[in-house]
Amino acid sequence: MKVIQIGMGGMGNAWIGAVNRSSDVEFAGFVEVNSEIAQAQCQQYGFDASTVYTSLEEALENLEADGVINVTPPQFHKPTSFVAMDAGIPVLCEKPLAGTLEDAQAIVNKANETGVLCTITQNYRYSQVAQTVKSILDSGDLGAVGAINVEFYKGPHFGGFREEMPHPLIIDMSIHHFDMMRFFLDSNPSQIFARTWNPSWSWFDGDASASVNIQFENGIPVTYTGSWCAQGMETPWNAHWRFDCAKGVFSVEDDVVYIQRLTGVVDGSSQHEDKQVVELVSMERQAQDYLLHEFYEAVTQGKSTGTPAQDNIHTVEFVFNVVKSADSDEIVTL
Ligand SMILES: NC(=O)c1ccc[n+]([C@@H]2O[C@H](COP(=O)([O-])OP(=O)(O)OC[C@H]3O[C@@H](n4cnc5c(N)ncnc54)[C@H](O)[C@@H]3O)[C@@H](O)[C@H]2O)c1
Repeated sequence: MKVIQIGMGGMGNAWIGAVNRSSDVEFAGFVEVNSEIAQAQCQQYGFDASTVYTSLEEALENLEADGVINVTPPQFHKPTSFVAMDAGIPVLCEKPLAGTLEDAQAIVNKANETGVLCTITQNYRYSQVAQTVKSILDSGDLGAVGAINVEFYKGPHFGGFREEMPHPLIIDMSIHHFDMMRFFLDSNPSQIFARTWNPSWSWFDGDASASVNIQFENGIPVTYTGSWCAQGMETPWNAHWRFDCAKGVFSVEDDVVYIQRLTGVVDGSSQHEDKQVVELVSMERQAQDYLLHEFYEAVTQGKSTGTPAQDNIHTVEFVFNVVKSADSDEIVTL
């Protein structure tokens, strides 16, 4: 299967790596509007510079492709994915589906009208840690989930669009954690209350810290606290998670999954087994490799993907309703 990659910048490297590792997918060519980046990447990876175009329309006139990987910044997802879908070419698009809820809905409408696949790269779902959490939840081993607590602290100095956008933490990063919540719980939020702020030392223009209370449709409450300007004690990108369940607790700390089962109550005190490390589920492929293979099977064998635009719109709605709550200082009911 041949793909055109649109955008050869930062995250473009991850997709170039995934395609280069794949035995099923190869590059037909690229679209990149920045000639310096195009040139540097062609040199770095040994690509033929004549296969790099400055628009997808031009690339499609000159190249045979079965799919498009869209790695442009969010505001360009709609125009570029539209060109692909109008030409009948399936799209694997980086998160977020689009830069605004309106654009995201327009992409869903376009996918429905054309019947062309547009699937979103929620790669955080496809790690061993996330899949292990999902398998514990699906097993029902610890009984009902009563509450979930998530803590995320990082201090990345990216430069570029993230440091200028409003709500960089929520829109560009927490979207992964919110999507993981939807994945873990098979449910969507019904109520959201968010506060966001920017610490005095923040190097972001927009609010880089947040505290969010989410009620899911299935009744489970989640509390989320996060910061992109933490000055120490950082968590992994996956965040730290605690799941309080009827028959015990399990957690994710520093990408290790722990479980502690309740054994009973003696003399008014809860008794527990020792906290144990849970062996991670094995996966043939993870993250971009998983998603690329899933896209390949969808395009060549008609299989469905886990995160099509039609489902991913709920993750985008989640994100923008967190923003709405933070901006209005009000509870948002969905
Ligand atoms: N899934 C993840 O973990 C993850 C991580 C980082 C970034 N991302 C996402 O990847 C996307 C790209 O982010 P990035 O960090 O690579 O940004 P970037 O700015 O580093 O790279 C984007 C590239 O796209 C090019 N570009 C812009 N408009 C274009 C157009 N119309 N046609 C062709 N090329 C165009 C730019 O010149 C640039 O080279 C964003 O949606 C971002 O949210 C996802």
